Amino acid sequence: MGIKTKVKTTFFCQSCGTQYSKWQGQCTACKEWNTIVEEVIQKAEKSDWEIPTSKVKRVSKPLKINDIDASKEARLNTLDNEFNRVLGGGIVPGTVILLGGEPGIGKSTLMLQISLKLPYKTLYVSGEESQKQIKMRAERIHPNSENCYILTETKTQNIFKQIEALKPDIVIIDSIQTLHSDYIESSSGSISQIKECAAELIKFAKETATPVILIGHITKDGNIAGPKILEHMVDTVLQFEGDRNHVFRILRAQKNRFGSTNELGIYEMQGTGLREVTNPSEILISKKDEELSGNAIAATLEGMRPLLIEVQALVSTAVYGTPQRSATGFNAKRLNMLLAVLEKRAGFRLGAKDVFLNITGGITVDDPAIDLAVVAAILSSNEDVALQKDYCFAAEVGLSGEIRPVQRIEHRIHEAEKLGFSTIFVSKYNKISLKNTTIKIQLISKIEDLVNFIV
Ligand code: TYD
Ligand code: MG
Repeated sequence: MGIKTKVKTTFFCQSCGTQYSKWQGQCTACKEWNTIVEEVIQKAEKSDWEIPTSKVKRVSKPLKINDIDASKEARLNTLDNEFNRVLGGGIVPGTVILLGGEPGIGKSTLMLQISLKLPYKTLYVSGEESQKQIKMRAERIHPNSENCYILTETKTQNIFKQIEALKPDIVIIDSIQTLHSDYIESSSGSISQIKECAAELIKFAKETATPVILIGHITKDGNIAGPKILEHMVDTVLQFEGDRNHVFRILRAQKNRFGSTNELGIYEMQGTGLREVTNPSEILISKKDEELSGNAIAATLEGMRPLLIEVQALVSTAVYGTPQRSATGFNAKRLNMLLAVLEKRAGFRLGAKDVFLNITGGITVDDPAIDLAVVAAILSSNEDVALQKDYCFAAEVGLSGEIRPVQRIEHRIHEAEKLGFSTIFVSKYNKISLKNTTIKIQLISKIEDLVNFIV
C-alpha cells in the first residue's frame, strides 16, 4: 500500500450519471451538453474494507423455490397508513427505499415524523440540519419518542461505526447527496460519491436485513439529482410531490420490488407536521351552499384510488386580439383540443374567448376521465348557468365529440355515491354491471347530449 499509485479518475455525466472513460462535449445517453465532469474515484485501497455488520450475516445458498418461505418476510409496520399503503403494506426487511422530492416539499418532515412514530429503534442520520434543529422540528410534530436516535454525520464510515454501536432496526439518511465516503475523493453530491455511498448502504442493508431509507433531492426536471443510477440500485423509489403553495402532498411509488406502483398516499401539510388524509375527495371539493357557474366535479383516479376533484373554468370575451388559454393542473394542449371539439361539434364560438382552467387543490391530473368535467365547466361558464352541485362526471371526450368509456368506472361511481352525489355522467359505452345504486347513472354518447343537460 506504501507505493503511490496513479490517481484513478473517470468521467460522469452530472445529469444522468452515465460513465465515460474520456471527456466529451455531449452526453450520448441524455444528450445534455457540457455535463461531463472528471471525478477522482479511488483514494484508499478497498480490499480490506468491510461494512461492520454487528448482526449475523445472512449466508446465501441455493434453495428450491418451493422450499422458500416467503411468509417469513414479515413487514415492519410504520404506523403511518399512507406510507404503509404506498409501500404495499409496510417495510420489507433489508429493503433500500429512495424518497425523492423537490427541496422544501416536506421529505425531512415526513421521514422524521415516521421515525418518531416507529415502534422500532430508528437511527435518523442528518447531514443537513443540526441535532437541535431536528429536535425543534420534532417537538412540533410528535414530542415523545423512546426509540428515535438522531445523528448528524456525513461520513459513511462514521455512520457505520455508530450503527455498530447502536444496532438500529431501521436507518434513515437525510440526504444521500450530503454523504461522502473515504474511499472516493470527489466532493459530496457528485455522481461517484452518491454511487459509492449508496452502494455501501445497500450492502449494509442486504447483509443485515436492516431497512434503509435514503432521501434524495430532485432537480427541476424531476430527476433524482444526478443519479438516475440510484433508481436501478434501490428496491423502491418513492416520489413526494405537490405544489409547495398548496397544502396537499402526494406520495407515490415509481418503482417497487415488493408491491404495486399504483398505490398512492395523500398528506396535508399542517403546522404540526403532515396529516394523513384518509378521505381525500372530501377536502378537495369545496363545500359551497350556492351553485356557481364554471364549476364541475370530476370522478378521477389517482393510481388505484378514486378521487373526486373540482374543475373550475372561466370563459370571458377576449379583451385583446389573441384570446388567452391557460390551464393549471391540466394539460394545456388537451384543453385546446377540447375547445376545438366544442367549437366544431357543438357549435360554441369559443375562438374569440379567453379560457382559464384550474384544478383546485394544487394537484395535477392526467386521467383522461376528467375531460367531461372540463367540458361541462367550460360550457357552464360560457353560458353562465351553474351546474347542479350534486352532479359529477367521468368520461373521456374524443375528437369527434364522442363520449368515450374510461377504466374502473365502477370504482368512480362508488366513490361519487359515497360522497352523496345524485347523478354521475358516464359514457354509454362503459360496461357497468352495478346493481342497487342510489346514484343515478346518466349515460351519454356525444357532446350534444351533455349540452342538452346543461343549457
Ligand atoms: P422539509 O421537510 O424541510 O422539506 P425537504 O426536506 O423536502 O426539503 O419541509 C419544509 C417545509 O415544510 C417548510 O417550508 C415548512 C413546512 N413545515 C410545515 O408547514 N409544518 C411543519 O410541521 C413542518 C415541520 C414543516
Ligand atoms: Mg430536508
